[in-house]
Amino acid sequence: MEDKISIIIPTYNEKDNIAPLLARVAKALSGYDYEILIVDDDSKDGTIEVASSLASRYPVKVIVRRNERGLATAVVHGLEHASGQIIGVMDADLQHPPEVIPDLIKAIQDGADMVVASRYIEGGGCPNWGLSRRIISKVALLISHLLLPSTRPVKDPLAGFFMFRRQGLAQAKLKPIGYKISLEVMLIGRFQHVVEVPYIFEDRSAGKSKLNPGQQLDYLKHLLSLMARTGELKRLLKFCAVGLSGVIVNQGLLWLLTEFGGLQYYISALFAIEASIISNFVLNDYFTFADRRTGRGKSFVVRLLKFNVTCLAGAGIQYGLLLLFTSVFGIHYLISNLIAIAVAFLWNYFMSSWWTWK
Ligand code: GDD
Ligand code: MN
Repeated sequence: MEDKISIIIPTYNEKDNIAPLLARVAKALSGYDYEILIVDDDSKDGTIEVASSLASRYPVKVIVRRNERGLATAVVHGLEHASGQIIGVMDADLQHPPEVIPDLIKAIQDGADMVVASRYIEGGGCPNWGLSRRIISKVALLISHLLLPSTRPVKDPLAGFFMFRRQGLAQAKLKPIGYKISLEVMLIGRFQHVVEVPYIFEDRSAGKSKLNPGQQLDYLKHLLSLMARTGELKRLLKFCAVGLSGVIVNQGLLWLLTEFGGLQYYISALFAIEASIISNFVLNDYFTFADRRTGRGKSFVVRLLKFNVTCLAGAGIQYGLLLLFTSVFGIHYLISNLIAIAVAFLWNYFMSSWWTWK
């Protein structure tokens, strides 16, 4: 492959990792045309000096930002200085083993335009993690899969060790918040063929992790921003609007059938409920999920049935929670019902997004 490879490595106080890191990256890339960009946020431990002193041994550029902090924005900054057509991103602390880089390159040579090093496919893992770190990681993953459907095919979109063709970012304006630069690149770039290759997430060999609780808040902010920029926030709002229209259909029909149709209210209610489910379905099909309506094996009737199952289960959940909160937890029934409605709403939305209009 003649394409040049740029490996971008953000650093903050990683002095003792730099020499072994550069040696291992250089070994993994020997024979390739490549450069390494260290993007440092003004470390005070000597990282910059160590890295600069190795510039005569390795093709490494050291870029220092004086007034900014942040892993993801450091990578974006590095991109502006990178001259390769193929870009790799990895941590400096050797938790991302450089020996995996040739596997990433191979995936690109085989036709992928983005490749993610993955802990969560066969052959990958993080064997030294305790239970709580595992749970936090899985919850973060679940939230991204729930809120950002295009991340669903990727088992490990959050690890920050990945490679891509720069061309995929040609029109992209990157505005990441926090740590998850891989999510930003994957969702804002245009990549047709994203694959994963396995790796083992190693223990940190020296120095300390910079991850802190503030980053979890940043993660949520970043997800919200990505939802806004990819249209998923708009979709959620459309789903809300359709749900409200369903309340009107339901109330209206209940009233009409009871007052003018000669039915008892408990019979009218059954028609009213089903009518509102159907009207919600049609609106969601043509409005909220219009982009996911067509495609192979996607039948209108199957979607209608799935939506019915989802909504009826949602009603069951709402009713069950109302009883639970009121009679077991002693919460006022009107408050209980509001919580139950919120949970049922989320249930309906996620089932619609994950199953009915997948
Ligand atoms: N320039 C710069 N500025 N670099 C930073 C900053 C910063 O503010 N904060 C962290 N880094 C660098 C570190 O020096 C290291 O090279 C890399 O970013 C990862 O930082 P760690 O502090 O070691 O993060 P971690 O190990 O807790 O988290 C990593 O693993 C997670 C998977 O569990 C990151 O790769 C996460 O993105 C990943 O989700
Ligand atoms: Mn780390």
